[in-house]
Amino acid sequence: MPKTHPVSSPVYARGSEKAAQVRAMFSAIAPRYDVLNHLLSLNLDRRWRRRAVDRLAWERAPAGVYLDACSGTFDLALELARRPAFTGAVLGVDFSGPMLRQGLRKIAGTRVRPVCADALDLPFPDRSLDGAMVAFGIRNLADLTAGFRELSRVLRRGARLVVLEFATPARGPWRGVYLLYFRRVLPVVGRWISQHNFAYRYLPESVLLFESPEELGDTMRSAGFEGVAIERLTGGAVALLRGERA
Ligand SMILES: C[S@@+](CC[C@H](N)C(=O)[O-])C[C@H]1O[C@@H](n2cnc3c(N)ncnc32)[C@H](O)[C@@H]1O
Repeated sequence: MPKTHPVSSPVYARGSEKAAQVRAMFSAIAPRYDVLNHLLSLNLDRRWRRRAVDRLAWERAPAGVYLDACSGTFDLALELARRPAFTGAVLGVDFSGPMLRQGLRKIAGTRVRPVCADALDLPFPDRSLDGAMVAFGIRNLADLTAGFRELSRVLRRGARLVVLEFATPARGPWRGVYLLYFRRVLPVVGRWISQHNFAYRYLPESVLLFESPEELGDTMRSAGFEGVAIERLTGGAVALLRGERA
């Protein structure tokens, strides 16, 4: 039987209540997070993260300092740190200690530095970073606009922000297949392996309630990013947004 956890699903929570519930949920699933990530995405998550780093424009400042916000177990940060021409540093920020601890072995001897902090209150000076990325984390923030503003605050003018987030394929047979998998198969497998009673139900529920990629692009623009562009990956199951700090 899956263990019961002392908090409820953050899907309808707001503000500090949502933040506390999200942190508790990821902390509880941390030991199984990586396995489930690769399994439930059929390993496509690696390809999505590769594409995100391709869009970061880090080649403009290969010795720069980059942020991976909501870094979890550092897979996105590592994708950048392992690029052969990259000589800078990646700050992997997450507010769940257990998620960071889970990834520590992977980043030993790399250019990734773990930082335990809230993405809504980053411990970095204004305009100090050369680029930022967020993979599958922006949807979990207690205040989306405040999150984009905080990312904008720490970025230098012209620095790139890249956001990867789940989306819902717009139409056609793929939408039906995807929704069947996302709503029926993924929560069952996720619950079975993570032994957590709602984390893998929260995933599809929160994605279906979240802003569309176009709305997310508008929120990015209103928080100080320009040149916002949207790509759809895997038939629209994932959106990749990029924009530059104005
Ligand atoms: C779905 S995981 C994504 C992890 C990683 N980026 C990846 O691609 O696998 C979301 C992560 O965001 C973190 N998170 C959510 N809200 C946060 C916040 N306000 N500040 C810092 N981390 C946050 C969670 O603790 C969790 O580790």
